[in-house]
Amino acid sequence: MTAATNRSRAAGVGIIGAGNISTQYLENLTRFADVEVRFVADLDLPRAAAQAEAYGVPASGSVDELLAREDVEVVVNLTVPAVHTDVGHRILAAGKHVWSEKPLALDRDAAAALLADAEARGLRVACAPDTVLGAGIQTALRAIARGDIGEPLTATTMFHVPGPESWHPSPDFLFALGGGPLFDMGPYYVTTLVHVFGAATRVQAVASTSRQTRTIGSGPRAGEVFDVQVPTHHAALIEFGEGRSAQSTFSFQHALPRNGFVEVNGTDGTIVLPDPNTFDGDSALWRYGQDEPTALPAKGAESGRGAGVVDLVRSIRDGGTERASGAVAAHVLDILLGVRDAAAAGQPVEIASAVGPVAPLPEGWDPAVSTAG
Ligand SMILES: NC(=O)c1ccc[n+]([C@@H]2O[C@H](COP(=O)([O-])OP(=O)(O)OC[C@H]3O[C@@H](n4cnc5c(N)ncnc54)[C@H](O)[C@@H]3O)[C@@H](O)[C@H]2O)c1
Repeated sequence: MTAATNRSRAAGVGIIGAGNISTQYLENLTRFADVEVRFVADLDLPRAAAQAEAYGVPASGSVDELLAREDVEVVVNLTVPAVHTDVGHRILAAGKHVWSEKPLALDRDAAAALLADAEARGLRVACAPDTVLGAGIQTALRAIARGDIGEPLTATTMFHVPGPESWHPSPDFLFALGGGPLFDMGPYYVTTLVHVFGAATRVQAVASTSRQTRTIGSGPRAGEVFDVQVPTHHAALIEFGEGRSAQSTFSFQHALPRNGFVEVNGTDGTIVLPDPNTFDGDSALWRYGQDEPTALPAKGAESGRGAGVVDLVRSIRDGGTERASGAVAAHVLDILLGVRDAAAAGQPVEIASAVGPVAPLPEGWDPAVSTAG
């Protein structure tokens, strides 16, 4: 039995990239029963060892050592965006399924090549964000699916912050190719929109950059100035066909933070969703003629980063399709690249890729419990 087909027990998981976000993944994956974290790898071996020790993972070391492990079936790729697909191909070549942090790739060809590689090998690539699988957004998606706002027609999303260089100790990659508010935060908002409306058809956009350099605000490199290589504000109009649209802004240049804002308007009402970069949070439903909204408290199990890895593992076992699929991530990337290109060219961009509807999770879905037979 190969590592990728051994489904009789909790799936063995390895993590590549022991940086900032690995803490959240390790906290959750070490408590979710359908997965067992067996190895943490990083270029920085002491960093990998420290994270493994902190979370009781039995082994750590290099990427090659991880990929040689027979008992690892799924590899969680938490490296920086510039190497996501290189690392992804190495994982696939070792016969293991991939969970990738976002964005899936830096361009459309690289995303398509990764998905084709997986398909040719009979393996899967799934991709963050999995916040959309949390009880908060899922409660709203179930409300939309059962018709609480009628037919969804339009949406407004807003992500406005001063910028992550104040808190992230190595923020350069967030202002380089594959970063900026569009690619760093856009996936949370646009993935939610794709779950609501389905595939996008066309985008229009405008971009700006308020400052050419930023200063690191925390950690050992605090005070260091680095170059801003991508726009730090995008305003987009995303069309989903038949008059359905979303206006979305993604900004690292607002002194006044206003983020986590997603509002979907339908023929019969409006729903305000929780922050799509969190797993919980309540929704509010506005109906015509009502002065006050109806609260829609989040219903479902507590979740967290890594929930998508569990959904991937269960889908592999059941032969189903994981919700945070590579196909959804590739379509979201196509939209984000379309926004970037539309802003750069001052022209609308047609979105060539498409993806089918993604069904909401059942209310009782719980990433923590064991489903192993
Ligand atoms: N920090 C956050 O709050 C956050 C939230 C959600 C998603 N993400 C995403 O997670 C990913 C990682 O972000 P981060 O903030 O943890 O970055 P980070 O810079 O803190 O950590 C990245 C780690 O990957 C390692 N690495 C880089 N290239 C490697 C390679 N080729 N092989 C092995 N290890 C390699 C680095 O040594 C580093 O330890 C990014 O894609 C980011 O978009 C981050």
